[in-house]
Amino acid sequence: MSAPNKSYDPVEVTALRPEELDRARDDAIAAIAAASGLAELKEARIAHAGDRSPLALANREIGALPPAARAEAGKRIGAARGAVSQALKQRQAELEEERDQRVLVEEAVDVTLPWDRTPRGARHPLTTIQERMADVFVSMGFEVAEGPEVEAEWFNFDALNFKPDHPARTMQDTFFVESEDTGLVLRTHTSPVQVRSLLTRPLPVYVVAPGRTFRTDELDATHSPVFHQLEGLAIDEGLTMADLRGAIDAFVTGMFGAGLAVRMRPSYFPFTEPSAEVDMQCFVCRGASVERGAPPCRTCGSEGWIELGGCGMVNPRVLVAAGVDAERYSGWAFGLGVERTLMFRHGVEDMHDMVEGDVRFALPFGMEI
Ligand code: PHE
Repeated sequence: MSAPNKSYDPVEVTALRPEELDRARDDAIAAIAAASGLAELKEARIAHAGDRSPLALANREIGALPPAARAEAGKRIGAARGAVSQALKQRQAELEEERDQRVLVEEAVDVTLPWDRTPRGARHPLTTIQERMADVFVSMGFEVAEGPEVEAEWFNFDALNFKPDHPARTMQDTFFVESEDTGLVLRTHTSPVQVRSLLTRPLPVYVVAPGRTFRTDELDATHSPVFHQLEGLAIDEGLTMADLRGAIDAFVTGMFGAGLAVRMRPSYFPFTEPSAEVDMQCFVCRGASVERGAPPCRTCGSEGWIELGGCGMVNPRVLVAAGVDAERYSGWAFGLGVERTLMFRHGVEDMHDMVEGDVRFALPFGMEI
């Protein structure tokens, strides 16, 4: 700010010239009138009535005038600022009124409209994918078989050639039904349906058995004490491991598309001999992520392979336990993980999502999967 100066010519303080003040006022009023919304008006207020506006800056210069000229200049500035603030007030009122009218129209709720108060449910994607997995085999002529979830130990273990001291029988893995002498367990796999099917159906037997299974696992991202398997069983004359392999190939093609390799790794199950774990090539990276320098694959963890389950040639002891002539008939069986298939095929990363039963998880999957 300039210091008071008796010999100062007020005409030299440019900001205080009447025509400058008039122009600043007119600019302000024009900007205020042009503001088409409250946000724009706020900007106009800052620019033309704020601390750094031309009129505010001119006001500061008053002190630089000779005392005789100050009153006149002060009056002129006061009049200009008054006009600006009057215009602001008026435009503010107009714009608020406009906004209120608009909100009333835009946000109107017709409380008389009928509303469906029953929230929509959804099929669980595990159910849908389990049906789809079974359908691949139904299309090849398999029938769908079922068995009880509370199962006799004999079907779950003995008939499947588990010796009495097999570790899977211990409390660690199996839920036993009280009291112990009931001989009942929550089935630990769908394989008991193999024996039930052989006992109740005429040969040859081609069945798949989707269903719920139970093991004493803690719930975490990849385990659940309740899970699902798809069992497959084919018993006929002259079946070989090549037929098993072909059926798994057809499953992989049916679920994940053509051209994916299947591999079998030697394994052990009491009820199959020989036994294998079966993997499919990762349908996302198609095995490419194992190459050095290749981008990592989230689906297979850059393994290139996805584990599907266990399989093998049905142990003749199982056939004998089910009253089948093991000299004449042979066949194979498999057990595929349903949760695993959903996780891989649909990128579900956490088992919790599958078991919590929140309809918001299930709805987006729709009726077809
Ligand atoms: N029942 C086995 C499991 O739960 C899987 C399996 C089924 C293996 C049929 C071989 C044949 O791990």
